Amino acid sequence: MDPADMGDDLERVLLTEEQLGARLDEMAAQIDADYAGRDLLMVGVLKGAVMVMADLARRLHTAVEMDWMAVSSYGAGTTSSGVVRILKDLDADLTGRDVLIVEDIIDSGLTLSWLLSNLRSRGPASVEIATMLRKPEAAKVEVDVRYVGFDIPTDFVVGYGLDFAEKYRNLPFVGTLAPHVYGD
Ligand code: PRP
Repeated sequence: MDPADMGDDLERVLLTEEQLGARLDEMAAQIDADYAGRDLLMVGVLKGAVMVMADLARRLHTAVEMDWMAVSSYGAGTTSSGVVRILKDLDADLTGRDVLIVEDIIDSGLTLSWLLSNLRSRGPASVEIATMLRKPEAAKVEVDVRYVGFDIPTDFVVGYGLDFAEKYRNLPFVGTLAPHVYGD
């Protein structure tokens, strides 16, 4: 898809495919350097992290293991409650492993905060986080994030894994959604 395919549902392109790609190159180089000689397990959080996981992992010069978790936040609406239910757990045993959680976005931080303590309780050697996007002004809890693609404003964004009502995940760029789409 390109911006024209969204018609007037797109307000503006926030990050182009090229900008995302260039930042992913830098993040991958940093991860390669940080985990040199180690056996890395990347954990993608479904569904939003599919794009960043695929693009980040393919840029690495190290053979990594990839596993997936699906979680759901209890509570109404589109905001996280911090109470998380595991819909699909990892296949891998984390004991003694170096784990890198891969996310598309950190908004309130509540999902990641819960996930971090859940995974840390399983006896890994280390757990770090990589996220493509972060909304610092939306943070309700501070989460220590090792790799951040871009800090962005609190606008409603879609694309590159992020959806509105399950649509627009397959945009290769990140854009803000026109308010008429989500009902403002
Ligand atoms: C998104 C995102 C994070 C979470 C971040 O997932 O992938 O997991 O929200 O929000 P928080 O920082 O406020 O907790 P979502 O629940 O939309 O599921 P999805 O990835 O399947 O779209």
